[in-house]
Amino acid sequence: MLIAHTIRALRAGLAERQGPVGLVPTMGNLHDGHLALVTAAADACRTTVASIFVNPLQFGAGEDFEDYPRTLDADAALLEGHGVDILFAPGVEEVYPDGRADTAVISVPALSGLLCGANRPGHFDGVATVVAKLLNMARPDRAYFGEKDWQQLVLIRTMARALDMTADIVGVPTVRAADGLALSSRNQYLSEDERRVAVQLHRTLIDIREAVAGGARDFGALEDQGRSALATAGFKVDYVAVRDAETLTEPRNDGRALRVLAAARLGRARLIDNLGLLSE
Ligand code: PAJ
Repeated sequence: MLIAHTIRALRAGLAERQGPVGLVPTMGNLHDGHLALVTAAADACRTTVASIFVNPLQFGAGEDFEDYPRTLDADAALLEGHGVDILFAPGVEEVYPDGRADTAVISVPALSGLLCGANRPGHFDGVATVVAKLLNMARPDRAYFGEKDWQQLVLIRTMARALDMTADIVGVPTVRAADGLALSSRNQYLSEDERRVAVQLHRTLIDIREAVAGGARDFGALEDQGRSALATAGFKVDYVAVRDAETLTEPRNDGRALRVLAAARLGRARLIDNLGLLSE
């Protein structure tokens, strides 16, 4: 596996390899969720590139940019063992040579202010900008993103379509722990007690999915019930929302696929999860 720290080394490595090229963008500290993306890419593409870059642009003031776990050596060993051909691990100056403040920014206004965007101002502009840059750096045929971050996946699909980007954006189902908690680097911020409570996030979404499967259509009431179930379990709830799966707009009873999404804080950790609901 080639480890490239510069765009130049990445492009030189790609020039020596054959397509199709698959790209898996990550911030490192890899777990089985990330590795599911890598496996999907390696299965479908001749050359697989994984990137590790903790993107300062997508962290807000007071968020965990400085503390975000950086485990490059362990990550590199995992990627090599899962069929990655090139690990692209650039530094901040390589990605933002003009400085963070002076970079051109990509914004997807229809999506960046809602749900997680309402609680994390600027976050999705940071994500859209870095993903656009990574797509331009590696010029993959396909790029892989987890359904765990559903709003991020919708945002990237929308950006790629709006800006005529050619990479195919592929979504990969959420990988969960045995009890159902979605794997996340931030789960390690949970104490033992909090970890036991954390599974309630997934259970709450399952309850809403089952209610909808059973015919319930008062989504506002289901969201309220979900919020109070989480608050009772000890979460500070950011949102529980039933939305159109592809646009994240309010459901309109028009037969389009729906998704229930939630974000809630438990101690130091902010956890998110989502599930598909039956479409009519
Ligand atoms: P990061 O949180 O490291 O996640 C990298 C990719 O792994 C994302 O596409 C995310 O959705 C996926 N992922 C994380 N946990 C998962 C799980 N349990 N199951 C399936 N996929 C999972 O998301 C980011 O980094 C950044 O915002 C990034 C896209 C790299 C831009 O900086």
